[in-house]
Amino acid sequence: MNFDKVLSFNNKVVVVTGGASGIGESISKAFATQGAAVAVVDLEEEKALRVAQSLGPLSKSFVCDVSDYVSVQSVSSAIHQEYKRIDVLVNSAGVVALAPAESLTLEAWNRTININLSGTFFMSQAIGKFMLDQGSGKIINMASQAASIALDEHVAYCASKFGVLGITKVLASEWAGRGVNVNSISPTVVLTELGKKAWDNPKGDALKKLIPTGRFALPEEIAASALYLSSPAADMINGADLLVDGGYSIR
Ligand SMILES: NC(=O)c1ccc[n+]([C@@H]2O[C@H](COP(=O)([O-])OP(=O)(O)OC[C@H]3O[C@@H](n4cnc5c(N)ncnc54)[C@H](O)[C@@H]3O)[C@@H](O)[C@H]2O)c1
Repeated sequence: MNFDKVLSFNNKVVVVTGGASGIGESISKAFATQGAAVAVVDLEEEKALRVAQSLGPLSKSFVCDVSDYVSVQSVSSAIHQEYKRIDVLVNSAGVVALAPAESLTLEAWNRTININLSGTFFMSQAIGKFMLDQGSGKIINMASQAASIALDEHVAYCASKFGVLGITKVLASEWAGRGVNVNSISPTVVLTELGKKAWDNPKGDALKKLIPTGRFALPEEIAASALYLSSPAADMINGADLLVDGGYSIR
């Protein structure tokens, strides 16, 4: 292994869903800094365009609702047509709806499952087919500490993220023999728009005290994990869930 170049993504094509803000934006920037062409996929057209333009001439934005099967098919084909190959997919598009379990609305349940769970599968299936055809690829699914522990008022979110680990493991099992590794990253709270919505409050201050490192994560720390898992240094890592939670879930 050439350790000098292990995090170089020159000539690589990386697709990032939810790339227009938060963790996805930070991941898009990290890959572009390491030389990749980044397809910034998001519902938010203007924000996605702004991010893609900030990454340089190789990167482009694509508008897509990851929960819409038809939208995913057409955007995945458009990205493949544009770049002729796809080396990395990061599924970062996601939403959170908070409510006590007994009062969560049907709309909030469906939206969370459709975007976080079905969206992750639709994108992985559509882009995964191109990766299987080319015989190589890395898929990184953004899960959460809520993928393996209970968080109060997060019933739909926890259900969707537990499911993301299930998708990750099955795809990892089916596809690694054909060159496609699939892993997930499970952050604790990251202070993005989504993170603030759930945790920028006294409950968040109490949670911080339970994290051995004593703080929440930075988007760049999640991006660094995504770079590593997508690199040749992680070729033997498959079906794993990388917790970036400061040790919260060990207690
Ligand atoms: N922020 C945290 O504390 C935290 C912690 C653990 C896991 N996560 C996960 O990380 C991922 C990113 O979270 P974030 O904090 O960056 O959120 P964010 O709200 O800052 O960004 C999410 C992005 O996804 C896009 N998006 C939403 N629905 C979409 C859809 N249907 N199709 C396409 N794009 C859509 C949004 O437009 C937005 O740009 C999510 O999957 C989230 O569950 C976040």
